[in-house]
Amino acid sequence: PLAATGELIAAATAARGAVAAFNVITLEHVEAVIAGAESVGAPVVLQVSENAVGFRHGRLLPLARAAAATAERAAVPVALHLDHIHSDDLLRQAPGAGFSSVMYDAARLPYEENLAATRAAADWAHAQGLWLEAELGQVGGKDGEPPPDPHAPGARTDPGEAAAFVADSGVDALAVAVGSTHAMTTRTATLDHVLLKRLSTALDVPLVLHGSSGLPDGELTAAVAGGIAKVNIGTALNVAMTGAIRDHLAAHPGTVDPRTYLRTGREAMTRTVAHLITVLRDGRAF
Ligand code: G3H
Ligand code: ZN
Repeated sequence: PLAATGELIAAATAARGAVAAFNVITLEHVEAVIAGAESVGAPVVLQVSENAVGFRHGRLLPLARAAAATAERAAVPVALHLDHIHSDDLLRQAPGAGFSSVMYDAARLPYEENLAATRAAADWAHAQGLWLEAELGQVGGKDGEPPPDPHAPGARTDPGEAAAFVADSGVDALAVAVGSTHAMTTRTATLDHVLLKRLSTALDVPLVLHGSSGLPDGELTAAVAGGIAKVNIGTALNVAMTGAIRDHLAAHPGTVDPRTYLRTGREAMTRTVAHLITVLRDGRAF
């Protein structure tokens, strides 16, 4: 059934675990995320980013309606989340399109401007009953930026500044920069676990990890053990889907019917989802 992100996060936090949140681009992504979550009996968040809406010629509803219709029939709770939103127009479409939560991303702005924009978004979102996530200390590699260098030191979220930001903005959750980078196709990143501990001690809202595709299994498990409550995963699905389709077409060069390779791609994503949720669950035991 369709669930609310805030409720899934609250339940995960109470169990000292995390909710996996997967970015979806196509209907095959939607079906794979739900099938993968069902196979391991876990709730899951489906996220649609502003970039993904851009791919749909700026239209949110076609993919949102398909995601909601698939989620309603799921055997596990599934929440819909709008991810990395800059557009106020898109923010305002969220409640009507079935989304229970939004990540309002003003992290590229200087601190005071990020705070003011986030506060205004949070006030509006809360009046609509939406759960709102924001970001401080920009996680790199967004919006088609050049491929990140996994060994670059990168931005970090300052715990004192983060505590003030959360108090002054009223957000429900905070995305923190602790060493991960968006859009990595290798799983070679490492997290600053000391900083993550300091952030989870300093903040009383759930912490969100972005760019999680670049982390190996052990780092993902440790992130949950260290206090991350929502784990955003996008690129890992695309690595799985495109790799499987590439192999399929190489092995069957006469292929015409898209269902043959889309099925293969969807199955690869389903396995990735199931595996990553299992890895995140291991972090709960600590
Ligand atoms: O908000 C989305 C995530 O941060 C996904 O990042 O594609 O690097 O896994 P990723
Ligand atoms: Zn992200």
